[in-house]
Amino acid sequence: MNIIETRNIAKRYVMGTEVVDALKSVTISIQKGEYVAFMGPSGSGKSTLMNIVGCLDSPTSGQYILNNQDVSSMGENELAEVRNKEIGFVFQTFNLLPRQTSLENVALPLIYAGYNKADRTEKAMQALKNVGLENRAGHRPNELSGGQRQRVAVARALVNDPSILLADEPTGNLDTKTSYEIMDLFDQIHSKGNTVIMVTHEEDIAEYAHRIVRLRDGLVESDRLNTNIRKAQALMQSLG
Ligand SMILES: Nc1ncnc2c1ncn2[C@@H]1O[C@H](COP(=O)(O)OP(=O)(O)OP(=O)(O)O)[C@@H](O)[C@H]1O
Ligand SMILES: [Mg+2]
Repeated sequence: MNIIETRNIAKRYVMGTEVVDALKSVTISIQKGEYVAFMGPSGSGKSTLMNIVGCLDSPTSGQYILNNQDVSSMGENELAEVRNKEIGFVFQTFNLLPRQTSLENVALPLIYAGYNKADRTEKAMQALKNVGLENRAGHRPNELSGGQRQRVAVARALVNDPSILLADEPTGNLDTKTSYEIMDLFDQIHSKGNTVIMVTHEEDIAEYAHRIVRLRDGLVESDRLNTNIRKAQALMQSLG
């Protein structure tokens, strides 16, 4: 089943007299449970596509079907509802609230979802446990390492139990070792049945995905399965 299906989506930004066709015509189908990397040069439209896929933005034209629902013509409120239910988002800069603890940051989406305080605390604590950070629940972002901050952001993205995790350059601000730790976490999340889509500039990070979609000038330049040796080895291992 396709969980994500874009049909000829385009995104045009108009600023004064300047027109930018950030996406020209992008048609992509992603099945439930896939792990996909979006790559491509700066300005090729990766973030624009992620934001549309994540219901943070709407296409100028074309259709976007998310989980059998046509979301391309939805208004702001409807879109927010779909987003809260279906999607967890992780960003390069973590986007945590600086004065709130890890636990409070992770619990935030649950306020909008209408949970009471006790349930919020319990669910947020479980989400922190899932990323190995239960012992940092009371720390504020500036009391955490970069990798730990990103783990908190991942916990927040997953606390509502969305089926899709979207990450725009999740390792962009992390050193190599920490980047791989976050990728190991993504592997775990993916192996639990989640659909994972990430944007990355780094070839070695993209190798974690099963499928690599390259964008150029607002178009899909290539879309191929990852036949990398590392993935093959991981597959052999998991088969015993
Ligand atoms: N809100 C906006 N208003 C106007 N133009 C925009 C806006 N967002 C993006 N653009 C333009 O659209 C094009 C695609 O931008 P986008 O952010 O999708 O690129 P990207 O592939 O994510 O690049 P990077 O690798 O640098 O993050 C760029 O030319 C950019 O300047
Ligand atoms: Mg970008």
